[in-house]
Amino acid sequence: MTPPDATQDLLNLLVRQIRFEATGIHSFELSALDHERLPPFTAGSHIDVHLPGGLVRQYSLCNDPGETHRYVIGVLKDLKGRGGSLRVHEALKVGDTVRVSRPRNQFELQPGQTSALLIAGGIGITPLKSMAHSLLQAGTPFELHYCARSSEVAAFTDELVTLNRQAPGSARWHFDNGQIGAGLDLTTRLASQPAGAHLYFCGPPGFMKACAQAAAHWVPGTVHSEHFQAPASTEPAAPTTGATVRLVQTGQELVLPEGGNLLDTLRENGVHVPTSCESGLCGTCKTGYADGEVEHNDFILGDDEKSSCFTPCVSRITSRSITLHL
Ligand code: FES
Repeated sequence: MTPPDATQDLLNLLVRQIRFEATGIHSFELSALDHERLPPFTAGSHIDVHLPGGLVRQYSLCNDPGETHRYVIGVLKDLKGRGGSLRVHEALKVGDTVRVSRPRNQFELQPGQTSALLIAGGIGITPLKSMAHSLLQAGTPFELHYCARSSEVAAFTDELVTLNRQAPGSARWHFDNGQIGAGLDLTTRLASQPAGAHLYFCGPPGFMKACAQAAAHWVPGTVHSEHFQAPASTEPAAPTTGATVRLVQTGQELVLPEGGNLLDTLRENGVHVPTSCESGLCGTCKTGYADGEVEHNDFILGDDEKSSCFTPCVSRITSRSITLHL
């Protein structure tokens, strides 16, 4: 088996294939050096990719979770991004080894649904394509709507056409040619919710907002989403200065200093909270809390989780004291 990194339990994987999927989008197939099985994953999972130069970025796995020999990520070369996708496109070559985390999932398919509606905006297709493979295997009816500017920038066409052969009508494309309102009419498509149906969507910030608004009347707990990019205005939030933080496991009691950052304060006191995106997107830093109030600024926690968990990388303690399960 490919040896994990001794200190961080990372996997050293081989870049076995790089494929042109659409203009600006390449897929990267990663597999074990010795062709062994990889740790399993479920649809909606992502991995952290540790890039040359120290950058760490999260990418959704887009292949069929039934495949145990490879992880496939689809990466859009984003010239206006933070540099990670550019580094992936320019630095990773076939035959390289790359360190990645084990898969984690904050965007799970839900058990018990009678059907699933998957709506992708642009590169948000990646987790939803994996979900489509899983739903097909499970025999759960689904529709995958892929919204993109044009066919030239729509990825995975061959695989989605194959999916359509296996489940006729399951994959549908909506091209707007850059004109607002010319693509999928979300309001109409989401106007009624079939009994037992769940909705999953992923895409850029404006698309996410439009989907959430169009599905606002759906039954609570049946709408699921994953942001791959935080809205531009999102800033890591500082906790309330002077708040007392009690740690259950270590018994420590810390007072947050003026201008203090909770993660920094914890680290300075020897308490390690794993982090990855530090943008409220990945859930790596998810921490349990009690006896206090939090302003949630993440993009992943469900309403049912927010009363007991928060993401200290972006969320803010608003009470004078709080207890953390650390
Ligand atoms: S580190 Fe990703 S949500 Fe906090």
